[in-house]
Amino acid sequence: MALPEMWRSLSIVLVVVAQQTWGRSNWIAMTPSRLLDSGAVQAGVFTDNLPTFVARVWHDNNILPGIARPNVGAWASWQDYEVKKENFEVLIADEVTWIPAANGVIPLGAQPTGVYLNGTDLYTCRVLDETAFILESGLIMKGQTVCSIPWQNRTALYPVYEVMLYK
Ligand SMILES: *[C@@H]1O[C@H](CO)[C@@H](O)[C@H](O)[C@H]1NC(C)=O
Ligand SMILES: *[C@@H]1O[C@H](CO)[C@@H](O)[C@H](O)[C@H]1NC(C)=O
Repeated sequence: MALPEMWRSLSIVLVVVAQQTWGRSNWIAMTPSRLLDSGAVQAGVFTDNLPTFVARVWHDNNILPGIARPNVGAWASWQDYEVKKENFEVLIADEVTWIPAANGVIPLGAQPTGVYLNGTDLYTCRVLDETAFILESGLIMKGQTVCSIPWQNRTALYPVYEVMLYK
């Protein structure tokens, strides 16, 4: 490898390390009782008028983007039902943007917030459910045309949604 090329590879490695170590956003371990004042990124509001938060849960070696509710737990869509966890992670970020999208589009700049065991990246999406009047967050993957939301042990599918971008 020529010297300039080596130097470039090294800088790339350093940039990646810097982003991971000193990046302004962070996923932190969370439990339901500590959630409300944790500073986690809010996803919406639930039927109890309490905020819901962007979360990710571990299930069968998958990392699934989902939603957390104070004092209750976190949920994610898994196949056509939902999984609930008492231990999960929430996102702490300086800047969050929700970009409207539809029919499977994942806006440029969206970072994966989860991954299936087979390596397929997952992104955080949210929808306004007009029947329940709630803003819920769930997951979407490339090649899927809908945002999947965990709801009463089913996965509800929405073709119109927003995708989360964060810094
Ligand atoms: C990866 O796994 C997910 C969930 O089981 C599935 O929907 C998707 O089609 C798989 N992708 C590939 C490339 O196998
Ligand atoms: C949710 O549905 C799955 C699949 O049908 C089932 O195995 C599980 O027990 C259900 N969970 C609850 C809390 O009802």
